[in-house]
Amino acid sequence: MRVLAIESSCDESAVAVLDRGRGLLAHVLFSQVDLHRIYGGVVPELAARDHVRRLVPLVREALDRAGSTRRDITGIAYTAGPGLIGALLTGASLARSLAYAWDVPAVNVHHLEGHLLAPLLEEDPPPFPHVALLVSGGHTLLALVRGVGEYQLLGETRDDAAGEAFDKTAKLLGLPYPGGPELARLATEGRAGAYDFPRPMLDRPGLEFSFSGLKTAVSLAVKAPGFDPARRADVAQGVQAAIVDTLVAKALRALDETALDTLVVAGGVGANRALRTALAAAAAQRGVRVHWPRIEFCTDNAAMIAVAGLARLAAGEQSGLAIEARAQWPLTSLVPPGAAVQAPDPLPA
Ligand code: KG4
Ligand code: ZN
Repeated sequence: MRVLAIESSCDESAVAVLDRGRGLLAHVLFSQVDLHRIYGGVVPELAARDHVRRLVPLVREALDRAGSTRRDITGIAYTAGPGLIGALLTGASLARSLAYAWDVPAVNVHHLEGHLLAPLLEEDPPPFPHVALLVSGGHTLLALVRGVGEYQLLGETRDDAAGEAFDKTAKLLGLPYPGGPELARLATEGRAGAYDFPRPMLDRPGLEFSFSGLKTAVSLAVKAPGFDPARRADVAQGVQAAIVDTLVAKALRALDETALDTLVVAGGVGANRALRTALAAAAAQRGVRVHWPRIEFCTDNAAMIAVAGLARLAAGEQSGLAIEARAQWPLTSLVPPGAAVQAPDPLPA
């Protein structure tokens, strides 16, 4: 079985080819960062239009790099949600059309399931069950993962996601989009402890997060009379430390509460060096194993969509002919591969 996967949920157009026996044969990606930068964030309509331009050439490139032709492809996986609806529809339409033309099954993939399964691409994949800390631009949650498709929500954010907190505070500091990596870079020049921002929800039991208060704290700091712009790096350091401390503390609490000793960290914020260093140190102290996707598979990519799609196609799952895209799609509504095998729509006569 060889799967072609398409990801287009936000501002990355990506295509990958994954072979069941030989592993990942190709993954290619076009980032729209330059397109959206002047607007300070993703413009959904521009994102969708650019996916239309990029995806077909990326499919060709991925097949070439994989040393494959369309005849080698036995299934197609595509991100059906959650995400920007126009952007999702471009990938979903292309994926469904290719599957119809090539006469192979297609399966829709939940974007967050892709993130959660990305560490399975690494040499030493995490065992099940494990605790997953999923930290992306749109979501921040802790889940008990018993297996593929078995996600029990342990806690999530009440307001902003961790990535959103990075992005919004970066904007307040005048940093360009995308703010997360820019803020992380500036933070390396800041002095630790110069700003002590709140670590919300740490003093309370439970596994929920809340990051929206950070925006207010940072806004007050930078708008304070006499704020010296030279201290922006100190503020960045303080913001990053507050986010990292909170994520580490809650992840450890989730491991305690579930009595598990394996932690998976996934999603764009998983690329953050300070988070990786802090979690590695805390885990070593506790005898806990942390599994990460490699940095390029933390942020959006199609390789992770291929992993989730392959697991589902191999179990006989396939989606109907309808082009499915969902802006909202709860992770906990998923079931294990093959558990709800749908009969494909009948082909038109
Ligand atoms: O998973 P992802 O690529 O897209 C979503 O599904 O949301 O995550 C993107 C988020 C953005 O908020 C971005 O600023 C953040 O991940 N991010 C980072 C870093 N790299 C990406 N945040 C902090 N440090 C980084 N190095
Ligand atoms: Zn993502």
